[in-house]
Amino acid sequence: MQTEVITIRNPEEHTEEIKAAGQLLQNGEVVAIPTETVYGLAANALDREAVAKIFAVKGRPQDNPLIVHISELSELSAVTSEIPEYAVRLALKFWPGPLTMVFKRLARIPSEVSAGLDTVAVRCPSHPVARAIIKAAKVPLAAPSANLSGKPSPTSAEHVIADLEGKIPLIIDGGTCSVGVESTVLDLTCYPPRLLRPGGITPQDLTSVIGKIEIDESLFQEISVQNKVSSPGMKYKHYAPKAPVKVFCGPPAASLRQLLFCQPKKGDGVLCFDGCEPLFNDCYVITYGGAKDYKKQAASLFDALRRFDEEGVRQIYAQCPPDNGIALAVANRLKKASGFDLTYPPSDLMVIGLTGRSGSGKSTVASVFEKNGAVIIDADQIYRILCKSSMDMKRELCKRFGDILDENCEVNRRKLATLVYKDEAALSDLNRITHRYVMHEINNRLIGLQSSGAKCAVIDAPLLFEASADKLCDLTVGIIASKPDMVNRVLLRDGITYDEASMRLNNQPDNLFYVKNCNMVLENNGSLKDLSIDATGLFEKIMQTRINSDVT
Ligand code: TXA
Ligand code: MG
Repeated sequence: MQTEVITIRNPEEHTEEIKAAGQLLQNGEVVAIPTETVYGLAANALDREAVAKIFAVKGRPQDNPLIVHISELSELSAVTSEIPEYAVRLALKFWPGPLTMVFKRLARIPSEVSAGLDTVAVRCPSHPVARAIIKAAKVPLAAPSANLSGKPSPTSAEHVIADLEGKIPLIIDGGTCSVGVESTVLDLTCYPPRLLRPGGITPQDLTSVIGKIEIDESLFQEISVQNKVSSPGMKYKHYAPKAPVKVFCGPPAASLRQLLFCQPKKGDGVLCFDGCEPLFNDCYVITYGGAKDYKKQAASLFDALRRFDEEGVRQIYAQCPPDNGIALAVANRLKKASGFDLTYPPSDLMVIGLTGRSGSGKSTVASVFEKNGAVIIDADQIYRILCKSSMDMKRELCKRFGDILDENCEVNRRKLATLVYKDEAALSDLNRITHRYVMHEINNRLIGLQSSGAKCAVIDAPLLFEASADKLCDLTVGIIASKPDMVNRVLLRDGITYDEASMRLNNQPDNLFYVKNCNMVLENNGSLKDLSIDATGLFEKIMQTRINSDVT
């Protein structure tokens, strides 16, 4: 079959095409349409044969019911006659939008739509193209996600084309889906209403309108195929990419530490939050949004899973957001894709990143933290150790810079320094290589501390952010001081001239950098005593906050 692809961004500019799509649907054909969640494979919900085509094209199991799409609330009575009062409240608040509600089914909706259930799932999408097409078809449209069964839902026309080209007559390209995960499914045929699938409308959104809801257990654990579950779709291992997936849960820094410890290799795929990519080498890394940018994560997830398939990775390691808000939907899809292969951090080790310019008083603060029970990991010291002992790092450095080893077969750091002096590209290569090795060693130590039951570790790193070490930290502390104070301390400590000390500091970021990037900032006013007192207070505050946040 020849598949036509038509691009429609604004339905008002394409009335003819919309009309033609509506006509095709009336004639019993299936058409792929954009919605704000994912693309749908639509057919006339009142036409048994058209509905059967959906199942055939997708290869969808017959016992997995479809969602019926309407273009406005007033059309709901054509699908169900039992509309609870709170359904109207939900519809008024969230329709058109990514909320599907399950009602008792009217007999005019063929039982095939609902896979034999006496209920029917209904949704009113907000995508203008979807609404225009429903209106043009003049019937409710049954539409599952427009992917082949078992593939991630499509969030762009390209995804639909990849799965369904040649199998259906028409694909409407309405751009990339803004939500990116399928709609929230809420069963209203029971009380309290039951959340069957998390999506763009969050549990908090729902409870703010109707009070109590229940959350189906299938959201958090594997449901066996034999099990009868409230939403039949939940039992299928949807969204699964070809490669096995391991999911890392917990706070972002903790999940990253566990993931990194698995040492993903060439041929593996890594799905992580923005900014973590420099910590990985050789593997196929996809970032899918900032650690707290749940909307971006939702919008990017399925595309990422498809890209892993295309790349043919062997194993996927994925960093997972928490089970709340719209992140619940992201976490749910990821966990299902992994068949619930989940790793949680084994303990609540607190990792503090400590940074600041030369002479800022960083070491003083580190020793105060140490006296209070923290374990200090000194990034510079680890670098020096690796220059002696890491065969892999030496090999990679020699590959890039030629023979930079001394007579003891250790990295000649002085020679390296001259090679990168005033050569920005070389310096950035050097940092890229060494930072990664240093971070892996730091991470190994953190994992060790975690299993030994330590409560707090401090990464003392002048280049904390430059080395992406902040991503391994639950919290970052920057030490700032006045420039003359820092210059003085550096020249006394390192026995260099005023000009040399001044130049070294000029090559480092200014105080504003630390104020902007660190969670907390400690100002060194020049008095060692004051700095120690402030550092003690800060440490107590950090650990106290930690205890409180553990309780809540
Ligand atoms: O965002 C969405 O909902 C997208 C777009 C196209 O609207 N559609 C979608 O459809 O995700 P599908 O078929 O991939 O997922 C439908 C989900 C399944 O989990 C199914 O089990 C559940 O809705 N469902 C459908 N009818 C149901 C019913 N009567 N009772 C309980 N669950 C139902
Ligand atoms: Mg689907």
